[in-house]
Amino acid sequence: MKTLTILFLATLLISCSQPETIYLDELDLSSMTSGWGTPQINKSITNGPLLINGEEYKRGIGTHATSTFLIDLQGNALEFSARFGVDDASVENGSIKFYLIGDREIIWESDVMRKGSDARDCLVSLKGINKLGLLVADADDGIAYDHANWVNAKVTYKNSVPKPVEEVIEEAVILTPPPPDKPRINGPSLTGVRHGSPFLHRIPATGIRPMKFDVQNLPEGISLDAESGILSGIAPAKGDYVVKLQAINEKGSDEKDFTIRVGSNLALTPHMGWNSWYIHYDRVSDAIMREAADQMIATGMADYGYQYVNIDDCWMVKVSSDDPEIGGPLRSKDDKLLTNKRFPNMNTMTNYIHKKGLKAGTYISPGPNTCAGYVGSYEHEALDAKTFADWGFDFLKYDWCSYGRVEPPKSREDYIAPYTLMWGELGKQKRDIVLNLCQYGMDQVWEWGGNVGNSWRTTGDLGLAGGSGMPGFYNIGRSNADHWEYAKPGNWNDPDYILIGWVGSAIKMGEGVKTDLSPNEQYFYMSMWSLMAAPLIFSGDMAKLDPFTLNVLCNHEVIGVNQDVLGKQGEIIREEGDQMIMVKDLADGSKAVGLFHVTGSATDPLDHFDWGDRKSNKMTISWEEISMSGFLRVRDLWRQKDLGEFEDGITLEVPYHGVQMIRISDE
Ligand code: GLA
Repeated sequence: MKTLTILFLATLLISCSQPETIYLDELDLSSMTSGWGTPQINKSITNGPLLINGEEYKRGIGTHATSTFLIDLQGNALEFSARFGVDDASVENGSIKFYLIGDREIIWESDVMRKGSDARDCLVSLKGINKLGLLVADADDGIAYDHANWVNAKVTYKNSVPKPVEEVIEEAVILTPPPPDKPRINGPSLTGVRHGSPFLHRIPATGIRPMKFDVQNLPEGISLDAESGILSGIAPAKGDYVVKLQAINEKGSDEKDFTIRVGSNLALTPHMGWNSWYIHYDRVSDAIMREAADQMIATGMADYGYQYVNIDDCWMVKVSSDDPEIGGPLRSKDDKLLTNKRFPNMNTMTNYIHKKGLKAGTYISPGPNTCAGYVGSYEHEALDAKTFADWGFDFLKYDWCSYGRVEPPKSREDYIAPYTLMWGELGKQKRDIVLNLCQYGMDQVWEWGGNVGNSWRTTGDLGLAGGSGMPGFYNIGRSNADHWEYAKPGNWNDPDYILIGWVGSAIKMGEGVKTDLSPNEQYFYMSMWSLMAAPLIFSGDMAKLDPFTLNVLCNHEVIGVNQDVLGKQGEIIREEGDQMIMVKDLADGSKAVGLFHVTGSATDPLDHFDWGDRKSNKMTISWEEISMSGFLRVRDLWRQKDLGEFEDGITLEVPYHGVQMIRISDE
């Protein structure tokens, strides 16, 4: 009886408990996403006051679109109320939409809001809802950096305090088996060089060191350093020189045929290396470049074929800067480019890189200024090309930036002109310099880039790409995939860098943070780039390469697909629901296939949140779809494991936002 009374009183107490209120800014907001950057409490995303059409608010959250936040209400909330709008510091044409999603259903959505619209109010019942998603989407105008404010936003509830839904952290499983102790020669089986140019090639080989190298049938003019495996010299007369590379250590040996093709074409397989931009931005220096070269060797990346160590923007003098380190005269009296103080001597730097058997790359714009405001090559192209060759560079990224301001393009010829000019000047040098066009895909660059360069960016900057259902890299890669027919040896579609490991926010040119891509998304990224025969240029922190990141970057069978000498870009053969399949023909008649789990149209608000139902899918590929038949051998490339022989096709389980990358052959 006594217990019953207590129970009754307790129930009465609970049911009579008064509703309480919690403001959005009182919750732990660490799982709230905000396009680029971190959501700001009681400030706009740019750190200014929260201002909506001239009215200032003391309390609220400033974010970018796209922004998401998932709150666990445990069915105990009563209502959500807030004012919302576009912050006055937003870009002119930005537009956004605010959504509330309760347990996978849109329970409220705003009109399209623009800068200058009055703030609006919302009051929404949350009765019976377990999980509430707050979403700010970009209203499908593609402008994903609008500034959004939720002000005076609060939830009323009874009994249990709303709290953020904890993120499910996917386990980072290393799929790439460690390399065997005995030597294994990796990398492409072909390289291109012009007659009379300096030749440099470090034989990429895994296995325990010390290792000895031998090369048979080396043409005259090229010699081998047997300890380091570095081939160097001057390229002989035109022709194909098929040499036999050999690597020996205490555990065994390996051999591989390798063709040195002396002709007019460079970059016969996609470039592999590292670029400074997404981690060092305008902080790049000579010391950083040397460290990257050291790390390329120390981490073993070079043993898989990574070889270019490329500076991006910000090595020159900054126009109109009074910072003594980066400002000053732009060119010498005889018009030669000057470096800023962080690069005391380009020759000693490139020597340092070359001594390790690696190659050095640089960057400039055809316009008067680079994108970051440093001096460009405009009207100095011939001299600059010679300077790059004299300094010992092997690669140039030529970034449009300010060029359109001084030479506004009216025709295709105008788009091509600056590249024709630099391509011609580089061709005159006694050094091979690979040319990478960076003009973000303007005027269908894939249709003509191959006449004036070795590779061309097909899109805007990957580091700035927004993503919702899928991360930004996918949108870039997906757009690059459309141009598969234009890729061939010497000419590559470039969807920009591999941004994994530690990478700095591009919009703020910030310090590095660990990638927020899930492990499966990283396998997806590397597989897609490999199948697309895209340049494999990592642009994260070389000094912070952890085992997982290295396992993604350094799987010789995955890289082998990328570096295959046929030089075909994979083609998407299926795109249905949550499935995407890409197929790449390989030189030996086999096919590499990527079965990708994709989700989320960028426009479906529900796909922004993890409702606890993110699952793998089963995907089937039939031999008919890839124009093959009979019993075919299937190999899992990430795990480097034969799966067996299959007739008609194969069905595989593909993890959420992940991939199965296989090779299918009939022998
Ligand atoms: C542009 C390019 C980037 C990078 C920066 C440097 O945005 O697309 O890859 O080179 O310039 O300023």
